[in-house]
Amino acid sequence: MSSRLRNGPHGYGAVTKTLHWVVFVAMAAQFVVGYLLDVDDSGRGRGRGRGRGEGPGRGRGRGGGSEDGYEPFGDDALLTLHVGLGAAVLLLAVVRLVWRQATPLPPWAPSLTHRERRLAHGTETALYAAMFAVPITGVALVLSGDDLLVVHVAAQILFMAGLAVHIGLVLKHQFVDRDRLLRRML
Ligand code: HEM
Ligand code: HEM
Repeated sequence: MSSRLRNGPHGYGAVTKTLHWVVFVAMAAQFVVGYLLDVDDSGRGRGRGRGRGEGPGRGRGRGGGSEDGYEPFGDDALLTLHVGLGAAVLLLAVVRLVWRQATPLPPWAPSLTHRERRLAHGTETALYAAMFAVPITGVALVLSGDDLLVVHVAAQILFMAGLAVHIGLVLKHQFVDRDRLLRRML
């Protein structure tokens, strides 16, 4: 295997870079699809009227859907897409973690201070956890019917918080320190 596919003293290799950006695009698409699911109010078995703030005794209260629970492979193409793409993210997260163990990380960018290295390590750990937690809680949500939406959303918040710090650090280096940190991942 060519050394440029792997990480090494030269920096991140092509496999790490490809996985990084494929997961980024897939996650971005998942947020779009996820919110489209949410704003859909056709009442076809998901989406509307989860019973928040409504009276008790309405069961799952999905606005007239006949089934109780989500049908990931029913006639709701958006939900099928969301589940399929989510499964792909989970698979990619596994591949990423295995690859990260199998190839050494490149040396730190010299411009990162000791504190920034600790911060970067912490956010990367949180992002890895979220790459697993978001799809797994999605699966749990489907299996539970609809009780676990709050857990799925909590995992998304963990992801967003990690991503905000991650991007913040990159932007700070890109535009304040001007050391082209972003190029390490391009
Ligand atoms: C889905 C969103 C993202 C996730 C989950 C994520 C995760 C990670 C992880 C885990 C690493 C460490 C290398 C690895 O194990 O792959 C990393 C590195 C990096 N990421 Fe992201 N990232 C995301 C989005 C972004 C975005 C939007 C940017 C650009 C603003 C970015 C820029 C970078 C850079 C420049 C590095 C290399 C840092 C270094 O020099 O070590 N990432 N990212
Ligand atoms: C992998 C990354 C994933 C992301 C980023 C993601 C994101 C989202 C978002 C943003 C929402 C809307 C939340 C809201 O109402 O505020 C959502 C809802 C939902 N997600 Fe995911 N999701 C992912 C994976 C999954 C998976 C793997 C499944 C199922 C196997 C799933 C099932 C659902 C369901 C059933 C809903 C609720 C739809 C509704 O009632 O409106 N998600 N997701």
